[in-house]
Amino acid sequence: MFKININSQSFLCSNENNLVQAARAQMVKVPCACVGGGCGICKVKVISGQYEMDTYAKSALSDEEAEKGYVLLCKTRPLSDLQIELIS
Ligand code: FES
Repeated sequence: MFKININSQSFLCSNENNLVQAARAQMVKVPCACVGGGCGICKVKVISGQYEMDTYAKSALSDEEAEKGYVLLCKTRPLSDLQIELIS
């Protein structure tokens, strides 16, 4: 299990789950809508830590944003503890 910090909230997430699944299971509110990598509502910035992402729509997260550390919570699985910042 990895510790995920989002602003002042935190929850635990294994590599088996995406960040939205884990947050919801632990009653932590995070921005999400489609939960399918299509809308971009769950876009956040990773400040530190390693992660991997499953397939998502480029209209929801551009390659340029991904290179800058932005991720979609609903398509991101942690590979280490993560420090995340909400962007809205
Ligand atoms: S909730 Fe729509 S892209 Fe993540």
